[in-house]
Amino acid sequence: MTTRLLTDTDEAAQILREGGLVAIPTETVFGLAARADNDAAIARLFEAKGRPQDNPLIVHIADTDQLSALCSHVPDYAHQLAATWWPGPLTMVLPAVPEVSRVITAGLDTVGIRIPDHVDTRQILRSVGVPVAAPSANRSGRPSPTTWNAVFDDLDGRIDAVFKSGPTAVGVESTVVDCTRDAPVILRPGGVSLADIQAIHPDARMRMATDDAERSPGTRYRHYQPEARVQWVGPFDGSGSERQSDQASTAGSCAYIGLNTPPEHMAYVRQEVVTSLDAYAQKLFQFFRDCEQAGIREIHCERVTTEGLGLALHDRISRAIG
Ligand code: TXA
Ligand code: MG
Repeated sequence: MTTRLLTDTDEAAQILREGGLVAIPTETVFGLAARADNDAAIARLFEAKGRPQDNPLIVHIADTDQLSALCSHVPDYAHQLAATWWPGPLTMVLPAVPEVSRVITAGLDTVGIRIPDHVDTRQILRSVGVPVAAPSANRSGRPSPTTWNAVFDDLDGRIDAVFKSGPTAVGVESTVVDCTRDAPVILRPGGVSLADIQAIHPDARMRMATDDAERSPGTRYRHYQPEARVQWVGPFDGSGSERQSDQASTAGSCAYIGLNTPPEHMAYVRQEVVTSLDAYAQKLFQFFRDCEQAGIREIHCERVTTEGLGLALHDRISRAIG
């Protein structure tokens, strides 16, 4: 199969309507889209990614009026979350109506839904006219793609088309929130922070190890594994909390990403000093991929706070460390 590069939203919508697979940009990462009401297309999607069948997909919609066709009950706090954060990097897990394919929900009785904040993709979604399932557009286990080139690197020849667009703005995936209980529970931290969600419901919390594992199937898998070894270092903010091991010579073969300039003796072959947590998140996955392509075997990520977007960074980097 030849994978085409598209810039016309009508063409992308047409391929999706006919049951094809198109990688679409969102504000978080690129997604691999297929019609949610077409089981054959969804089966091809799992196949193209090499994704385990028991990991459910997020359904993407253009407008909130499409919600009622997908879920049976939306609690008040979820309405408020949607009003505040959609379109945006928030996925709400809600009770699924029986019409939602169990291939998408991986047999669960809930469905993850979001409205992405990307002008072309919302146009594509409107034009397709039905909800579209879209996991991140990477081969399973690889870092999520934040550029269209990264999608090609992973999926060229396996999907029908890639919609061309600039690098994604947020850079880490959406916050997945279980909205089936009395208060929101974050299953995966992301672009919307715990504090943001607590502003809407004060009892909102992070998922704990003691919560049922089946509620957040994605956390079972090793994710975001670049070919290079990933490690925490620092922080190099003068707080004096560097560990002894960080002082070891990096022998000129490692790369570094972080908010502070690392000490000179670390002698990194490549370093990306970012100016904010937002920039750290935006650059992280592409940095992993660039390092890999440069043959770098070890990547050091500067430790970050777990406040705000820091929690999502912490989660993704910890999972890359494995
Ligand atoms: O930002 C994003 O969320 C991107 C863009 C493309 O929208 N999508 C994305 O999809 O990251 P994916 O498939 O790579 O990750 C979806 C996560 C997985 O951890 C999955 O287990 C979880 O959402 N999920 C989906 N449906 C769920 C459900 N019904 N219950 C619990 N977790 C669910
Ligand atoms: Mg993914």
